[in-house]
Amino acid sequence: MSSTSSMASYKRLEGKVAIITGGASGIGASAVRIFHDQGAKVVIADIQDDLGEAIAKNLGDDVCYIHCDVSKEDDVSDLVDATIAKHGKLDIMYNNAGVLDRPFGSILDTTKADLDKCIGVNLVGAFLGAKHAARVMVPQRKGVILFTASACTAIGGLSTHSYAASKYAIWGLARNLASELGQYGIRVNCVSPFAVPTGMTTAKGIHEDDIAQMEVAMSGMGNLKGEVLKAEGIARAALFLASDEANFVSGLNLVVDG
Ligand SMILES: NC(=O)c1ccc[n+]([C@@H]2O[C@H](COP(=O)([O-])OP(=O)(O)OC[C@H]3O[C@@H](n4cnc5c(N)ncnc54)[C@H](O)[C@@H]3O)[C@@H](O)[C@H]2O)c1
Repeated sequence: MSSTSSMASYKRLEGKVAIITGGASGIGASAVRIFHDQGAKVVIADIQDDLGEAIAKNLGDDVCYIHCDVSKEDDVSDLVDATIAKHGKLDIMYNNAGVLDRPFGSILDTTKADLDKCIGVNLVGAFLGAKHAARVMVPQRKGVILFTASACTAIGGLSTHSYAASKYAIWGLARNLASELGQYGIRVNCVSPFAVPTGMTTAKGIHEDDIAQMEVAMSGMGNLKGEVLKAEGIARAALFLASDEANFVSGLNLVVDG
């Protein structure tokens, strides 16, 4: 086989089993497609059942959908158990599901409900995902736990206070987990996106042309010119951290902010 054809058939996640929470939309849905394309068996976990099931149906037998509210421990525990029952192992737990309380806002009018919403899904979901992934990865003595945090872990004033607090906490959790779980061969990292138009940041039913315009406008805020950030750009950073190419990378917050 020539080196060109062996490169063409090389798949970066061949034989891996991955769970992607929040996989029905946006960055998670891009990661589902890219991880699947790179040879992984993927379990989509989300609360948007129609969207998640449609993606799984479209991609075929190696992708399935499981309803899972990441803020509920029983749902997360059942998700991990169902993945083990179906595939016999879990290589990659990508804790990506997240919510925004609102686009912007002062601390003066931020309610406790805003904070509870962000902490309840973003941080609690990340914590439960990591806990139940570790439950099966520790005996495997191998695995990757990945989180979608946010560029607000590196740049002040980029988001609401509730959202920033929840995402900074995820980064703290990731560093602490990397410290404990390294002894079992488990790598723990964050990918931290700058702003991209997704289900979270755009109105429902928005036209593709408007999304493209928003991508250009949001990317224009970065120092790097001539490149546009799309959800796929974040998913490709996640792919690197999930793959064996990052085999000695743990405790990293990979900020994708141009
Ligand atoms: N889009 C951005 O600009 C941006 C920037 C920084 C970080 N992020 C983070 O990226 C991640 C993905 O968000 P996105 O931008 O793709 O938005 P999105 O809304 O398109 O996707 C988020 C997904 O999470 C799911 N979800 C929400 N609550 C859930 C719950 N309780 N249980 C299970 N699933 C749940 C939603 O149904 C949705 O499918 C989030 O963690 C978000 O905070 C996004």
